[in-house]
Amino acid sequence: MSPPGSSRARLSGTRPSGTHDEAAASRQVREMFSRIAPRYDLLNHLLSLRFDVVWRKRLARRFAHIVARPDARVLDVCCGTGDLALALANAPITSAGSAPASLVGTDFAHPMLVRAREKAGEKAGRLLDFLEADALSLPFPGATFDLLATAFGFRNLANYAAGLREFRRVLAPGGSLAILEFAEPRGAFFRHLFNFYFKRVLPAVGAVVSGHAQAYSYLPESVARFPDPSELAELMKRTGFCEVAFESWSAGIVTLHSGRARS
Ligand SMILES: C[S@@+](CC[C@H](N)C(=O)[O-])C[C@H]1O[C@@H](n2cnc3c(N)ncnc32)[C@H](O)[C@@H]1O
Repeated sequence: MSPPGSSRARLSGTRPSGTHDEAAASRQVREMFSRIAPRYDLLNHLLSLRFDVVWRKRLARRFAHIVARPDARVLDVCCGTGDLALALANAPITSAGSAPASLVGTDFAHPMLVRAREKAGEKAGRLLDFLEADALSLPFPGATFDLLATAFGFRNLANYAAGLREFRRVLAPGGSLAILEFAEPRGAFFRHLFNFYFKRVLPAVGAVVSGHAQAYSYLPESVARFPDPSELAELMKRTGFCEVAFESWSAGIVTLHSGRARS
């Protein structure tokens, strides 16, 4: 086994504390998100000071030209309570004025999907569909989607390379991938400030409000263990993506990774 914190360990996939293999990691992640689903949105907005909303909208605007195509097929993987899918559904309306394409959101935590469907309201089932599915084994034929986007979900996969290969499989050749994830800020001052907030304040507030301490100590642990943006970019290139790029937002707290499925 690779030592925790090594590049090889970071590149393998998430391992919540106490788990040592993919199956256990995946089970624990699913149970954890199912438990915190009732307070997930509240805590997300509170702990990020609503920056999470801004980040998803920014991603959605960036890819609105694809979503607005009348024939576009769009997938939000690890959709949680559906906020990215909803931002994508609304982006063409706000930026291009045209009707959005049909969209599918998938997640393996059932209580998250219940909330996603509630929030989608009348859009659910018509424009937007939500399905229970593991991101490592998506229930779609190859080359189905023109855009696959995921926000704050990829980090939780138990096998990053397998996840990227599965994303590549369901994307049409030339289709776009967008991964929005947390990162550790680079500048020393901001990094200290961020670490204090992320490792002390956030787990304490999260534990009190959600009643599930482990989920909110897992968050900073999983970010610390996640590959650096350049490591993830290399992995994307090795798993079938071209035009791979990444950009840091909000002083490096989050990174948008993008690429296109190689033909
Ligand atoms: C931090 S939440 C992000 C939710 C949403 N994308 C957002 O922007 O708020 C991570 C989500 O990924 C889901 N997830 C993690 N691993 C998964 C997997 N292997 N398959 C499907 N969903 C997964 C969890 O159930 C959870 O809902």
